[in-house]
Amino acid sequence: MTATVPDSLVGRGFDRVDGRAKITGAARYTAEVPLQGIAHAVLVGARIGSGTVVSIDTSAALAAGAVAVYTHENLPKVTAVPPVFPSAYGGPAPGQTFFPMQDNTIHYYGQPIAVVLADTFEAAQQAAELVDVRYDRREAVIRLDDGRAAQYQPDQIFCGLVPAVQARGDFEAAARAAAHTVDATFHFAANHHNPIECSATAAEWDGDTVTIYDATQGVTATQATVAAYLGMSPSNVRVIAHYVGGGFGGKAMMWPHVTLAPMLARELGRPVKVVLNREQMFYGTGLREEQEQRVTLTADADGTFTGLRHHKLSVTSTFDDWAELSLSVAGQAYGIPNWEGRYRLVRGNTMTPTFMRGPGEASGMVAMECAVEEMADQLGMDPVALRLRNHAVIDPESGHPWSSDGYAACVRQAAQRFGWSAEQRRAGPGRSGNWLIGWGMGTAGYPVYQPGQPQRAHVRLLADGSLIVQAGTQDFGTGVATTMAQVAGDVLGIPFERIRVDIGDTDYPNIAAAVGSMGAGIISAAVHTACEDLRGQLIGLALADSGSPLHDHAVDKIEARDGALRLRLDPFVGEEYSELLSRNHLIDLDAIGAWYPPAQDMPYGCMSFGAQFAEVAVDADLGLVRVRRMVGAFAPGRVLNAKLARSQVLGGLNWGLSQALMEGSIGDPRDGRWSNASLLEYLLPVNADAPEVDISFVEVEDSVVNPLGVKGLGELGMVGAAAAIVNAIRHATGKTLREIPVRIEHLL
Ligand code: MOS
Repeated sequence: MTATVPDSLVGRGFDRVDGRAKITGAARYTAEVPLQGIAHAVLVGARIGSGTVVSIDTSAALAAGAVAVYTHENLPKVTAVPPVFPSAYGGPAPGQTFFPMQDNTIHYYGQPIAVVLADTFEAAQQAAELVDVRYDRREAVIRLDDGRAAQYQPDQIFCGLVPAVQARGDFEAAARAAAHTVDATFHFAANHHNPIECSATAAEWDGDTVTIYDATQGVTATQATVAAYLGMSPSNVRVIAHYVGGGFGGKAMMWPHVTLAPMLARELGRPVKVVLNREQMFYGTGLREEQEQRVTLTADADGTFTGLRHHKLSVTSTFDDWAELSLSVAGQAYGIPNWEGRYRLVRGNTMTPTFMRGPGEASGMVAMECAVEEMADQLGMDPVALRLRNHAVIDPESGHPWSSDGYAACVRQAAQRFGWSAEQRRAGPGRSGNWLIGWGMGTAGYPVYQPGQPQRAHVRLLADGSLIVQAGTQDFGTGVATTMAQVAGDVLGIPFERIRVDIGDTDYPNIAAAVGSMGAGIISAAVHTACEDLRGQLIGLALADSGSPLHDHAVDKIEARDGALRLRLDPFVGEEYSELLSRNHLIDLDAIGAWYPPAQDMPYGCMSFGAQFAEVAVDADLGLVRVRRMVGAFAPGRVLNAKLARSQVLGGLNWGLSQALMEGSIGDPRDGRWSNASLLEYLLPVNADAPEVDISFVEVEDSVVNPLGVKGLGELGMVGAAAAIVNAIRHATGKTLREIPVRIEHLL
């Protein structure tokens, strides 16, 4: 592991390298890519939730100026529908195992049943209104309760990667012997993706090859998926994503519009662009499923947890067994010997659910952490002390030690910054005028996932001493290009300003999709590996070169700094890269580094931890909740950029607030639609809702997960945040809360 040196670039809070382009509007997003002779595609969604298309009349749309209209009657068949698979492991990542317009079956409201193309977006939109559809309509199931009676037990969930029933120890025995039991069932409304940038794809063919512009979390995932659907070699598919306006999991799977753009461009012989509108985002990019979680937590008389049973029942599509992984972190954060987890499913007329920030952990840790705090009250213990007593010192699932931990330090640091006092909490809610003031806590945890294939980056040193770093990754808001420059600059000793980073193009070396909080870890590893290779080449060149002041010196005495190679102990002996290259008649020198992720079965548990605290004010007469303060401390391993890391977590905390109090999609059982599919009616926090936030980090070294010890931060900041708020509301009001989001009506 590279030691952090005082003047290292890694860790510092550099501004985003693409910040100016984004602020000034120079940044070009997929919907804005200009292509000569483009046809605009508008999707027509089904207006029923279940049934068939009996007839579909496109004549009025064509008469109104549509260039073409495709339906199940004339859309080309896809070559293969790849299995649903997270793109992290390589291979295609379709959004669902069903592809629309291959037959006349309707599985969910909003399912594309026609696509209308015209020379302008407005003409396509108008023509789309004129497509006349007759349906044979069946009863749709969109709410969990409506399908509850027909629930089933799948073998596997989550792309067939996770067994639906798991256990360790003997929960039943633990339950019989328990001194204390909390048994609580929580209901979570469905949530939908609302990044600022709606999903969009544009495609242009040149002979047998296609260039696709896509708002994606994985250019390589888009490439593999489209290639599979269209029966092509990925070599003939190039994917570009220069700027992406937020992803959060909604752009991790490749939903049907991504393949429709290149398919229709090939049909029409001209470029095609499809842009989802805000309402279509509710039907076109997956969702966090409506779910119910029952948590049964048992403890000894002294407050040692002895058992946990965690059962989840959730809605999936009619064709895939998907559930977000709500049981994993909840079952691993504490050293609970007897554990039983079970996912059951209800088939609903929705599209297949998908990743959404903290995909499972964010909901699972609401149920778990609310139960923990209820247990603390039953025991008469401080909830902070109870959590510290029960934290898993080793990974209870694998029995292996953590690769690094930091949980206890996070709890103490956040509690101290919050001003937590066990006595004050025990005294009951505070008061401020008509407002009741409550405190709550939540544990944050998120696994360190590893991709299934080597991660690669290309670095190229130019004769003037500047560096170009390239990788087939993309920035959907994380600031990855900025951190890549920091990592490269440290290994090669090149100033930040002299490094250019190129990303967002599958012509660069392959990086897995940025999902599961892997992005920073895998990209830093790839860039680090490539730069070490290049540094080795440079040192080798200097040592072999009789004209170099470093000729014949020992390799381990040489370091790279200030754009030069120098003797570590005598920095006056050395030379700049530009001199070394020009004397050797080299215009450039480059390397492609391949980092091989550690095996999945390594003898460590790998998890990022953190602690969240919230203070809320509740007006008990009106049921109003105001989150006054949130405090979070996190131990994500190496922090690559302090400013970007804080920004990432700031978003997570506010999303936690949103999860706790606002977001919920309401399914209409009459036709299977989401009745609040707009930013007007789907509540999201605005600046006025945002509390005062205190974010800090706890440094932990991790020499297992990747070269820089980056455990990831993308999801962690959201996990536990909602629980802290719900617990604070319970503290303020004494009300037992079982519905998420918590709304005014639950508090009256
Ligand atoms: Mo993340 S929800 O796996 O994009």
